[in-house]
Amino acid sequence: MSRQRLLVANWKMNKTVAQARSFAEELGRQTSALPTGVELAVCPPFTALQTLRVILPSRVKLGAQNVHDEPNGAFTGEISAEMLAELGTEYVIVGHSERRQGFGEADDWVARKVRAVLAHGMKPIVCVGEDLEQRNNQATLSVVQSQTSAALAGLEETQLANCAVAYEPIWAIGSGQTPSPQDAQTVITAIRETVATLSGKAAQGMPILYGGSVKPDNIAGFVAQPDIDGALVGGASLKVDSFVALAKAMGE
Ligand code: PGA
Repeated sequence: MSRQRLLVANWKMNKTVAQARSFAEELGRQTSALPTGVELAVCPPFTALQTLRVILPSRVKLGAQNVHDEPNGAFTGEISAEMLAELGTEYVIVGHSERRQGFGEADDWVARKVRAVLAHGMKPIVCVGEDLEQRNNQATLSVVQSQTSAALAGLEETQLANCAVAYEPIWAIGSGQTPSPQDAQTVITAIRETVATLSGKAAQGMPILYGGSVKPDNIAGFVAQPDIDGALVGGASLKVDSFVALAKAMGE
């Protein structure tokens, strides 16, 4: 089964509305350079969603970086899945390590967020990954397997068909360091095997991405691996030329 190839830009807390607008306008001028056959998504801060919805080229989907699991209510500062869906958001990053570590998102909360995203017709991109100490203790596979099953267990096959996973080793994020493509492949195979314990069909079809210091000059090595279907990219997604170069390298 051929799987959707997916390149997702995670802008984190970068870009004002004006900066997001100029990125989208410049990307619009370069759309002919974007490869077909690769799904592209940009996840800006919430404040730029509406602007990007209007001016991002239709080739490029809109994503969000976080969501609250409750439908509404007294959750000061939070954003619901319904609010994101109303803005045309198609993807939502869930359980990024910066949220797990900095904002107390435990596995059970991540699982509830996944369900809220799916309930509003959007696609969660569930982030999993080990820290350096866990890696040094050979705990990588057990960490990613338990994070994956905590997020996805209990979902129907039709729901799993709308999920993606991103393997992001915490020590590789923003550090310039990466695992080798072969190491990332080994971990992503283990993630796919975990999904297969829930549904073999979903495991075959689910896009599983690599993230962590992906750049235009290293992305090809990752996506050449049989189980790596794309990338979740922070720093290297902020400039249009770099984003286009990432997309082109994936399309080749
Ligand atoms: P990075 O971030 O590409 O800047 O390492 C990736 C991420 O955190 O999603």
